[in-house]
Amino acid sequence: MSIKNTNESYGSIAIAIHWLMALIIITLLAVGFTMTGMEDGDEKWGIYAIHKATGLIIIGLAIFRWIWLFINDKPKPLENWSKADIGLSHATKWILMLLMLIMPIAGLIMSLSGGHDVSFFGLFTIEGFAEKNEQLNHFFHEVHEIGGLVFAVVIVLHILAALKHHFYDKDKTLKRMFGKNK
Ligand code: HEM
Ligand code: HEM
Repeated sequence: MSIKNTNESYGSIAIAIHWLMALIIITLLAVGFTMTGMEDGDEKWGIYAIHKATGLIIIGLAIFRWIWLFINDKPKPLENWSKADIGLSHATKWILMLLMLIMPIAGLIMSLSGGHDVSFFGLFTIEGFAEKNEQLNHFFHEVHEIGGLVFAVVIVLHILAALKHHFYDKDKTLKRMFGKNK
């Protein structure tokens, strides 16, 4: 398998970053929706801190992924894909590409404008605003919360589509994301 994509196949970097980000993002969504319902206290704030630091990793990975997308060939649609398959996969791809950037940036601005420092696992700290900015905080909280819901729904549809291709159409859509091209 080559490092870069070809018109037929995903390269090892695209595949590695796809599955790494899938794992982290699905975890962040699950933890995000769960932690907000916890009782205030050290345990909750500890999980918030891990959520934030892990979310920062996504900003870095997402920037890299956008660059990688543009300097790579795009594996073309498979012959058996319908017009709807092609249209929907395009729409989904761009929504996911946008949300992977918007979500962590919104989370970061929400935290900082709420006057909270954001620590990256103790390695470095981004300082929160000295004075809380209610408007900014409120706006990005909404973006983060609604974005999280949209993200979750689109990911479920994305997974269902992958399973439909694999088990119903029996094509190589899902296998291609694992580097298999037969
Ligand atoms: C278990 C979960 C997942 C499965 C089974 C899955 C499966 C797939 C498959 C089969 C493709 C290739 C489609 C094609 O050939 O065009 C793909 C592409 C893609 N997936 Fe996923 N995916 C999952 C999770 C995610 C998540 C959480 C994200 C969120 C960022 C994501 C973002 C993308 C993007 C942006 C593409 C476009 C291809 C590219 O990287 O250039 N996927 N996914
Ligand atoms: C892709 C990355 C991320 C995903 C998918 C994600 C997902 C979520 C979700 C689903 C929630 C619960 C919805 C809500 O009540 O707001 C949440 C809450 C939260 N997230 Fe994130 N998040 C990400 C990155 C970040 C980052 C980078 C930060 C800050 C640096 C952050 C800070 C927070 C905070 C403070 C809350 C709690 C808000 C509250 O108390 O209501 N998130 N996140």
